[in-house]
Amino acid sequence: MVYLNGKFIKKDQAFVSVMDRGFLFGDSVYEVLPVYNGNFFCIKPHLNRLAESLKATNISNPYSFEQWSEILHELIAHHPNRQYQSIYLQVTRGCDVDRKHTYGELSPTVYMQSTPFQNSNKDQYMLGGSAITRNDIRWSQCNTKATSLLANIMYAQEAKQNNVDEVILCRENVVTECSSSNLFIIKDGCVYTHPKGSHILPGITREVVLECADYCGINTEEVAISKDDLLNADEVWISSSTREVLPITRIDNTFINQGKVGDIWPLVYDRFQVEKTRNS
Ligand code: PDD
Repeated sequence: MVYLNGKFIKKDQAFVSVMDRGFLFGDSVYEVLPVYNGNFFCIKPHLNRLAESLKATNISNPYSFEQWSEILHELIAHHPNRQYQSIYLQVTRGCDVDRKHTYGELSPTVYMQSTPFQNSNKDQYMLGGSAITRNDIRWSQCNTKATSLLANIMYAQEAKQNNVDEVILCRENVVTECSSSNLFIIKDGCVYTHPKGSHILPGITREVVLECADYCGINTEEVAISKDDLLNADEVWISSSTREVLPITRIDNTFINQGKVGDIWPLVYDRFQVEKTRNS
């Protein structure tokens, strides 16, 4: 079952018009929320970020926080056998009578679906992930979670073709984030990540990772990271709602920490598992 404009219906019966601006222009925003053991994780920060994305794009927010929360809970209740779910939520500006760049008063299209989700596996993560680096060609409003993801999907496809887990993006020698995750480097016991702003998505998982590091007594700093810093780091991690926090041990042709997962990652990963049990 999926949610479309006020109704729960079967996915194969959910249709939107070709005049929907989400289809014609990618004129829409989205969220991806994880559900662990039948409970939403960080629902408030996700809904706050959705409200920010809607505000930034001048798409009207069709529901209050309580209404969003109620619909989301109803959606996961439709899938009682899925302990782990990834919820995709999209709001488009809506349908117009004709295709034109400008818009008037429109009624937003709201779509939500649940996908079964695998819980992360520490043993598998301990094998370490891999990445390639590319120039960040995206626009300068990456803090808005927009569905216009052409650059991101091109990177993701390149990662797939190169048999690596992610593409790490560099904007004028500053490492920003990845095609669908945030980035951290660890050097001399301190965790570094790009500051929030228009060049990265303010990841909800990024925030939890920083809190976990803090809990473990590890210093954290939000500063610009150069490509040199990246390749000479003791550890490199990526984070997202679908991957939690994943260590990266090979970037392009360089091994990080001689290709082995470092000592700090397991501490933060273990703390993250405790955080996942909180229902918020
Ligand atoms: N992507 N940066 C980018 C560009 C992203 O697309 C994502 C998430 C993140 C991490 O954000 P969060 O921790 O809130 O998931 C960072 C989602 C998972 C997606 O597009 O499917």
